[in-house]
Amino acid sequence: MLVIHTQQELAEQIAEWRHHDEHIALVPTMGSLHAGHLSLVELAREHAERVIVSIFVNPTQFGESEDFDDYPRSLERDQRRLKTTATDMIFAPDVETLYPFGPDKATTVSVPGLTENFCGATRPGHFDGVTTVVARLFAIVQPDVAVFGQKDYQQQLVIRRMTADLSLPVTIITGETVRDDDGLALSSRNSYLSDEERAIAPALYASLQSVGQQLQAGGREFAELEAAAIEKLNNAGFKVDYFAIRRALNLEVPDRDCDDLVVLVAAQLGPARLIDNIVVTI
Ligand code: PAF
Repeated sequence: MLVIHTQQELAEQIAEWRHHDEHIALVPTMGSLHAGHLSLVELAREHAERVIVSIFVNPTQFGESEDFDDYPRSLERDQRRLKTTATDMIFAPDVETLYPFGPDKATTVSVPGLTENFCGATRPGHFDGVTTVVARLFAIVQPDVAVFGQKDYQQQLVIRRMTADLSLPVTIITGETVRDDDGLALSSRNSYLSDEERAIAPALYASLQSVGQQLQAGGREFAELEAAAIEKLNNAGFKVDYFAIRRALNLEVPDRDCDDLVVLVAAQLGPARLIDNIVVTI
């Protein structure tokens, strides 16, 4: 497994793979890898002969009061974990490589509409940072496919939209959320939780499952289902940011006949902002 930091070395290696007609899959990450990321690598491998995992804690997607400085960074540990997978290359660029004119002066890619609600409303500018860095990674790596996790449901929709709108020649693949035995979705931010908070955290997924079951049973009073779930989570110790039942396709408010739904939640639990979702196909 290669560990590459510069665009020049990356270009040379990619040229060699392309020379042998090999396809390339990219798994963009911010490091601090867990089993969820590793499952994305395995999925990527099913779609291409070569898998590149990028590791870059992207400054432009963090707000000023957010956890950019505290975000866990562990390249050596990540390297050890990826060695056990089908990864061919880690691409770990520095800030200058991805933002040659500086993050503050970067040409920005922005997807309107889809980014206005939910995480986009609570974290202004966050999705501009995500699409800007992903567009840059696509331009530098030129992958055939790129793999993102379903846990960041809104993010993967936004990236799909950007890719379609700009006709970028990349196929976007979404990998399933990986969970601990008690249902908590794996996330690098779970490491912020105290033991007590960690014991409460599975209630987030339990609330999604409960609403999912009610939808499957014919429940269509979406606002009531949302309000009841929010109250329950707030009583359990969360500060709910949003809990919403939406059309899976585009996050719009569904009508009663819609049979492809997504239930999305974001909530603060102590120092950690946790997000999760389930897709409900009736
Ligand atoms: O999901 C993430 O880890 C990040 O948002 C991504 C897609 C790697 C962009 O920095």
